[in-house]
Amino acid sequence: MEPRLVSVPESLPTKVYGTEAAGISKATHDNHLALWKGYANKTNEIRKALAEMEIDPAAANQVYSQMRALKVNYAFAYGGYINHAVYFDSIGGAGGPATGELGRLITECFGSFDRWAADWKATGMAGRGWAFLGFDHAEKRVFNYAGDSQDTFPAWNHTLLLAMDVYEHAYYLDFQTARMKYIEAFMQVVDWDAANARLG
Ligand SMILES: [Fe+2]
Repeated sequence: MEPRLVSVPESLPTKVYGTEAAGISKATHDNHLALWKGYANKTNEIRKALAEMEIDPAAANQVYSQMRALKVNYAFAYGGYINHAVYFDSIGGAGGPATGELGRLITECFGSFDRWAADWKATGMAGRGWAFLGFDHAEKRVFNYAGDSQDTFPAWNHTLLLAMDVYEHAYYLDFQTARMKYIEAFMQVVDWDAANARLG
């Protein structure tokens, strides 16, 4: 049976281009779309390789083996695919304080929206690649996680509500090395409706 493949749209949803007023340019998004496609392509390539390979458990090895290369890089490729899917859905909104049920949860877990926002900005500065707002189904709470790579996730049993890419490719064109300025621009265009929709 053929493996199920993932794909990305040829162009980003138009709401994303509404971030230009906040300083995140169309050129940045267009370049970023190409990177996102790369993650989708590699995810598909690894799925096909796994579907077609002769699997020999005795040949698998933690130092180096074909299975190790495929499994470790699969988490990176598909992680990158999902992180970017949520990232592009996280922006292009009205920004401002969180709304709806997510707004209530943020206030409950952080004390106030402002405290959440300070924590989010700090998390974005502390992470090497991502800030993730995750909903923990076990404890019914939200938390800002730092992600150092495409395959560093929160603990299990979370739903990813917001993803903020803090790799330099997400902002260097517009803000050079001023990551905080980019984070503040992101805050101005957060799509709380989309985040609430993921909360379900
Ligand atoms: Fe990215």
